[in-house]
Amino acid sequence: MISVKNLCKEFKNTDGSVTKVLKGINYEINKGEKIVIVGPSGSGKSTFLRCLNLMERPTSGHIIFDDVDITDPKVNINKVRERMGMVFQHFNLFNNLTVMQNLTLAPVKLGIMSETEAKEKAKGLLERVNLLDKADVYPISLSGGQKQRIAIVRSLCMNPEVILFDEPTSALDPEMVGEVLDVMKQLADEGMTMVVVTHEMGFAKEVATKVLFVDEGQILEENTPEEFFGNPQSKRLQEFLSKVL
Ligand SMILES: Nc1ncnc2c1ncn2[C@@H]1O[C@H](COP(=O)(O)OP(=O)(O)OP(=O)(O)O)[C@@H](O)[C@H]1O
Ligand SMILES: [Mg+2]
Repeated sequence: MISVKNLCKEFKNTDGSVTKVLKGINYEINKGEKIVIVGPSGSGKSTFLRCLNLMERPTSGHIIFDDVDITDPKVNINKVRERMGMVFQHFNLFNNLTVMQNLTLAPVKLGIMSETEAKEKAKGLLERVNLLDKADVYPISLSGGQKQRIAIVRSLCMNPEVILFDEPTSALDPEMVGEVLDVMKQLADEGMTMVVVTHEMGFAKEVATKVLFVDEGQILEENTPEEFFGNPQSKRLQEFLSKVL
């Protein structure tokens, strides 16, 4: 479904020097897979995720999504992004809009659904995450866990083919992590293709089809959860796991 070919990303610093953040990443993601990405802070996990839907323009390399090279400047990237949902650490809901308005804004504005259709879809999804009673409130009155479940519903309202999650539970109080992970597990069970950056190793063990260890802008190790956690190959990963497990 997504094929990443020799993906490189550099940032120019103010003094003219260059920081190489992604150093030639190659990876294939098949439909229905749940890829969990772990690695130290600053290793390039978020940058990798943001390059997948071109929120960040790769410096070089290619991303092939359903046989189309989306790094080709001729491709309409907004159309591509409609098919790739993204869920962030800090929810990124619009605080001046109600939950329902947050959910229906994009699909209606982009002409994907009529307002009636979008509302029906949003209601159905809210029901599934037990938040239908919150449809008409503003995000300010929601807990972090509720906000993140709404953010997941918002991405689902677009009928995405894949959802990218960047540390979706890192900003939550511990008692709210479970309710968000439960929604993500439900999505995984339903066959959604997911790419998840997280520190939740339990989630990785339970849900991932593959776990990637990103270190210094490269995929240092990639394996099934059993092998990844049970039999880490590199010293770097062994050290990392000894700190986080
Ligand atoms: N817009 C930018 N301009 C300059 N440097 C950047 C930019 N975005 C990221 N970087 C640098 O790229 C490196 C990788 O950042 P990234 O956010 O991808 O790491 P990460 O693995 O997601 O870290 P964390 O676990 O802390 O979220 C860091 O050194 C960061 O400072
Ligand atoms: Mg990050």
